[in-house]
Amino acid sequence: MITLGFNYSQMHDSSACIARDGELLFAVAEERISRIKHDAGFPHNAIRACLDFAKVRADQLDFVCQGWPVPGKSIATDLKCFLRGQYPLTYLNVLNTARTYASMAHQNGGFKPFTNHFGATKAQFRFVDHHLAHAISAYSYGGFDKAAVVVMDGRGAWEASSIWYGHDGRLDHVLTIPWPNSLGLFYAQFTQYLGFVPNSDEWKVMGLAPYGSPGVNLGEFISIDQGMYRVNAQLLFQRHNGISAIAKRLGPERTPESEIDESFKNVAFAVQDACEDAMLALVKLATEKTDSRNVCLAGGVALNSKANGKIQASCMVDGIFVQPAASDDGVALGAVFAPYLDSGGRLPMRPMRHAYLGPEFSDAEIEKVLRTYKLRAFKLEDVAATTADLLADGKIIGWFQGRMEFGPRALGHRSILADPRDPEMNAKVNNAVKFREWWRPFAPSMLREVAGEYLEHACDSPFMILTNPVRPEKRDIIPSVTHVDGSARPQTVEKDISPLYWNLINEFGKRTGVPVLMNTSFNLRGEAIVNTPTDAIRTFFSSGMDALVIGSYLVEK
Ligand SMILES: [Fe+2]
Repeated sequence: MITLGFNYSQMHDSSACIARDGELLFAVAEERISRIKHDAGFPHNAIRACLDFAKVRADQLDFVCQGWPVPGKSIATDLKCFLRGQYPLTYLNVLNTARTYASMAHQNGGFKPFTNHFGATKAQFRFVDHHLAHAISAYSYGGFDKAAVVVMDGRGAWEASSIWYGHDGRLDHVLTIPWPNSLGLFYAQFTQYLGFVPNSDEWKVMGLAPYGSPGVNLGEFISIDQGMYRVNAQLLFQRHNGISAIAKRLGPERTPESEIDESFKNVAFAVQDACEDAMLALVKLATEKTDSRNVCLAGGVALNSKANGKIQASCMVDGIFVQPAASDDGVALGAVFAPYLDSGGRLPMRPMRHAYLGPEFSDAEIEKVLRTYKLRAFKLEDVAATTADLLADGKIIGWFQGRMEFGPRALGHRSILADPRDPEMNAKVNNAVKFREWWRPFAPSMLREVAGEYLEHACDSPFMILTNPVRPEKRDIIPSVTHVDGSARPQTVEKDISPLYWNLINEFGKRTGVPVLMNTSFNLRGEAIVNTPTDAIRTFFSSGMDALVIGSYLVEK
């Protein structure tokens, strides 16, 4: 059976993936191909890439599954919220709701553009409820037979958070917390208040939080009552004479790109703190309801690596899996397996050991591009050794190898790498390459074998989605990847999964005694991570990177 899954909620992060007989073959977000960050358009490029990779035509597919329910479900929710006063009945909100519904209905949820782009197919079209798709993306790939599955995001058609019990390849629905009682909404509204882009820049708030101090009371906006979080959406949305309820209580909103004063740092601290408490409460509830100490998380809120680290370190759980594509791009990974639940069937259980699910380019293809641009490039005998020499020499390297990662993190295939021992490296990479905010931390990739030496509560963490405390004696050894609060968001690298990347870190370790690299995504600020050799070359020459190692080739400036 060949199934295709895609996300086209029209909100953000459209994506597609393809599976054959329950084996996931390929996955890519539309933004990587269209180059529009968080692209919410119909993912026709991503679907085309899936079909090409699997060498199948659309008419050979058995199922085409979209991770969003039939048009009409969300408008019904919105209308109910308008009538109950949970969502402000403004011209703009009504217009948005009506426009989204009209667009979804006109396109039959995406199946019409599918047929337009790819022709007629015998495939069965399938709408999959959004949180069910998230839940499958956590449970099927989590590696636990029995698990509490928690989905937390901005919104589904009607869901904000949900709890499921995964067992024996099946998912039992336990409870749903309806929209707009939404942690994602809470975080997004404050992200906007702090002068960042909601549903995109939540990372920035999380990174800023440790610079703030306790003291800001957000109790009116979010509370925990009898073990359950409660978000006051009405107040979060409220505006009088153009002034939001948040601004009325906490002072004027921050102007984007302006200086960040202490009061905004303190708000970021309070937002993160409240979100962590709410997530911990929800996970506790899930473990109690399912009587399981293994937890699988998905939904955009589960990208909060700081909170995930706290959940992992808590005494509530024995095992944790966070779907690395926790946001809506990952919905495709769940939707693609949904047909297996038909007639009481079981989901394919495919523990996810890596996220290298995207396009790949051979040396011959890379060489052709280098020649097209008339670039001087050297073919390396030993890619890992030469790159390790450059890194140990303080160079900032663009590293383009193998299949692109699926999900928001670069995990050593589309990465910018540097020496984590240099306390100035954070500023150097920020100023020369990423052009991003000074407070956003960089993350380490380290050999799996040394994780316990560097981190407290170390565990296999291949996806940079859990935060751990760095051991106090190691903080000065890797200062540029240790955040101000002493934490890091590590990637543990396994030899059998990423042999070249493992070798590179190992070679760097041989030269420096520190088998750890600073790893950040290969993109410029505000752009999607590079996908093709052309993207990589363009980004390399638009930045202050010193060298580009692309396949077996070295390009220097
Ligand atoms: Fe979602």
